[in-house]
Amino acid sequence: MKRLKELDLKNQHVLLRVDFNVPVKEGKVTDTTRIEAAKETIDYILKSGASLVLMSHRGRPKGEFKEEFSMEPVRKASEEILGMEIKPLFSSQVVDADVVARARELQPGEVGMIENLRFRPEEEKNGEEFARELSQLGDIFVNDAFGTAHRAHASNVGVVQFLPSVLGFLMGREVEVLSDLMNNAEKPFVAILGGAKVSDKIQVIENLLNKVDRLIIVGAMANTFLAAKGKDMGKSLVEEDQFDLAISLLQRGRDKGVEILLPIDVVVSTSIENGEGAKVVSTDEIGADEMALDMGPDTISAIEAALEDAKSVIWNGPAGVFETEPFHKGTFAIAEALAKLDANVVIGGGDSAAAIKQSGLEDKMSHISSGGGASLEYLEGKTLPGIAAVEGV
Ligand code: 3PG
Repeated sequence: MKRLKELDLKNQHVLLRVDFNVPVKEGKVTDTTRIEAAKETIDYILKSGASLVLMSHRGRPKGEFKEEFSMEPVRKASEEILGMEIKPLFSSQVVDADVVARARELQPGEVGMIENLRFRPEEEKNGEEFARELSQLGDIFVNDAFGTAHRAHASNVGVVQFLPSVLGFLMGREVEVLSDLMNNAEKPFVAILGGAKVSDKIQVIENLLNKVDRLIIVGAMANTFLAAKGKDMGKSLVEEDQFDLAISLLQRGRDKGVEILLPIDVVVSTSIENGEGAKVVSTDEIGADEMALDMGPDTISAIEAALEDAKSVIWNGPAGVFETEPFHKGTFAIAEALAKLDANVVIGGGDSAAAIKQSGLEDKMSHISSGGGASLEYLEGKTLPGIAAVEGV
């Protein structure tokens, strides 16, 4: 399998799949991390004497043109961040004869962007004909969309059968970091898993129990484990149908010698919105009307202690409703504890990445994944179709 650096790109037309599925508010991109993350690959392709067509999805427009999902705000933000003109090769059909002609007219060093791939229903169905249409936009296909690597769509899987294909630098880095962590992590290896639901993380927990020395479970997900152990969680979010599974995961952890940490104290309130009566209580003292919405200071101290000698850490999922004060402290305390470690610290994308960004501690982490769902599926031990299609595995 060839690498991007091994290809002669001079005078070639390169078709680059990026994941520019970024948040947009009132016509402005509010988080440009994913655009910045693609810069290295984009700069390299252009410096190598190629022209470039960028393609991405944005949101879930469900297979039809919808103005509010247009790539235009993303194109504008990309021009600013990448410091280059990006021609709009826009059609409500995404690709048509005119788009192909304009893409083919691009000169070395010039860049264009096509419309939201998901305006075409064939994209998410990995439609062969749509993939073939997309392939007319370039001579070489480069996939740098790690955030979309867990989807088997026309623009990242189908297109590979029509063009010589390689992975971009962002993809390469993501795969290297995550596979190194899953296969050769220096010990002690600690995983921190949070978020709302156990049901979303079952396979990650199962897979990580084979790899880690300590598993720290936080967030609303921890409520289900605590309730399954017999704690009264009041009005907290709990998945009763996962109790048996939670107990069996705890048992499996014990069998494998994995230390599993659950919260010992929590911040409770009767209201998520206004934090009414918010207070710290032990997990034995949650009132009938109260919800656990963050972890408490004793749990934070226990986590700090569990991390102290860690050499490898993966964190995925917040410890509480961190967008809302006063339920933000646990999540940011994890970010700060991780920042102090002399360890390989990897942040799964999504909410944990957002929390690290908000706390301004990005530079202290070894790697922050650009893919939420994709990094989660990688941690589950799954093969990601977007990578497999290009790598032929
Ligand atoms: C993401 O943001 O996780 C990716 O862009 C994938 O988006 P999707 O969940 O809509 O497929």
